[in-house]
Formats: sequence, C-alpha cells, structure tokens
Amino acid sequence: MSTLEATDLAAFSKRVDDVVHAHPVVVANDYTRWFAKGEATRDDVRHLAQQFSVFSHYFVEAQLRKIINAADLQTYRAGKEILMNELGVIFRSQSGSGSATVGDDVDPELVGTEGTVDGSRFRFAAAHFEWLVRFARPLGLEFGDLGKRRHSTPSTWFFCEELLRIYGAEDPSTAEGASYAVENWAAAGFWKELIAGLTAFRQRECPDLNLAFWTWHDKVEDQHAAHTADELKEAFFTPGFDQERFLTGAADMLDGVKAFWDGLDADRRGRWVA
Ligand SMILES: [Fe+2]
Repeated sequence: MSTLEATDLAAFSKRVDDVVHAHPVVVANDYTRWFAKGEATRDDVRHLAQQFSVFSHYFVEAQLRKIINAADLQTYRAGKEILMNELGVIFRSQSGSGSATVGDDVDPELVGTEGTVDGSRFRFAAAHFEWLVRFARPLGLEFGDLGKRRHSTPSTWFFCEELLRIYGAEDPSTAEGASYAVENWAAAGFWKELIAGLTAFRQRECPDLNLAFWTWHDKVEDQHAAHTADELKEAFFTPGFDQERFLTGAADMLDGVKAFWDGLDADRRGRWVA
C-alpha cells in the first residue's frame, strides 16, 4: 500500500466510523440495555424468541442472495461458510477436530466457532434454527410458532426485507457496506446483554432454558470483531469499489436493525403500560 493509498483508506475509515460506530443501534440499544437488567417477563422472552426466530430464518435467505450476487469466488466461498454453518454443517478446525456430537444430539456448547465447513459434516441438530427451537420449547413455543413471516411484527418484517434488499444486494459495494454494518452491530455487545437477561430469567423461573444459541453466537462475534478492519481494507481496494454506495448500504442496514430493536422496545413498553 502506497502512502497515498494509506491516506485514502484512513479518510474512508473515518467516514465509516462516523456512520457505523456512531449509529444509535451500535452505541445505545435501549431494548437490549433494558433486557440485560433481567426484568423481562415470560411474555417478553417469548416475544423476543419469536421475533428473533423470524430474523434468524430470513437471514438465511439473505445470505443465499449474498452468495448468488458474490463478485468473486473468494467472497462466494466465504458466504457459503456462513450459510452452510447456519444450516447445520459444523465448523471443522484445520487439525480435523470439532464435531461435538453424541448420537443424534449436537451440543452447541461444544460445537466449534471457527474453522471451515469444507469436508465437515452436516447434522440436522447443528442448524442454528434448531437451537432456537430448542431454546423456545420451555417457553411453550413449538416449531410451528417460530420463524415464519406470519409471526413477525411490522418492524421485524421491515428488518427482514431490508436484509434481503441491502445485505443481499446485487451491487457489491452496497452488500459489503451492509455486511460490515451487521458485523459491527453484532460485535457491539448485544449478545452479552441478552445472555445476561436470559440467565436471570432462567434462574428466576425457567430452569430448563437452554442458552446455547445465544452463547455460541456471542463466542463467534468475539472472534469476528478482530477481523473487521481487515475486511474494510480488502473491500476498499477491490476494483470498482464505490465508497458512497458502501456508506449508504451500511447506514440503511443499521436503520433496519434499529427498527427491529425499537419495535421490540415499543412492544414491551406497551405491555407494561396496558
Ligand atoms: Fe447463526
């Protein structure tokens, strides 16, 4: 990288910081901040499980679109690592270990958070959606209560449509901006806030609650957070990269994320007021 290139990248990084790292949903998420206090009722937790399950399902569709629209083989494969893992292919470490299975059961607590899906195994019970189904069972929610469009509130559905439109965009700069935004949002600590609240709820009234879906994702994000600067650099030097479209993709995507959490926040306040 020449001095001029380094200066350009630094200027662009500053603009990205202003959009992504200063966005309200990254800086202060009212819902997850409240949730972390552990005051959520059973109805609040059920509502969270249901709305998150719709997002989780439609994320899979957005990820597939991202792969279809990938600009090069490397991006295509990186997208497939995420998609296949989401669907139930366990990450295998380079040394070959990492399949934590006992019979038909797959314990997410023991499933690897890094490695590759290449040459690894598919297990139905390793699908992230199935972990969420398992989580929701003690709350009285079954498979048919989760993950469908009809279960979503308007704000959750808006978020899902924005994921399909922006994260899965045909334009690579827009899609890269959305990916970068989603990764930074996910690494900003919301998993930990949800885990804190869910742990309190489990202790108080729901001992059978399995938190593995949440703790596994939290572990993954801690690793992703370290890579985002490299990803930004790589995108920046890709031929045809468009800074404005990247920034618009990132900002619009975070507005979609914010709509999701603000919807949950309005719902829980509504329940309290009623
Ligand atoms: Fe996942």
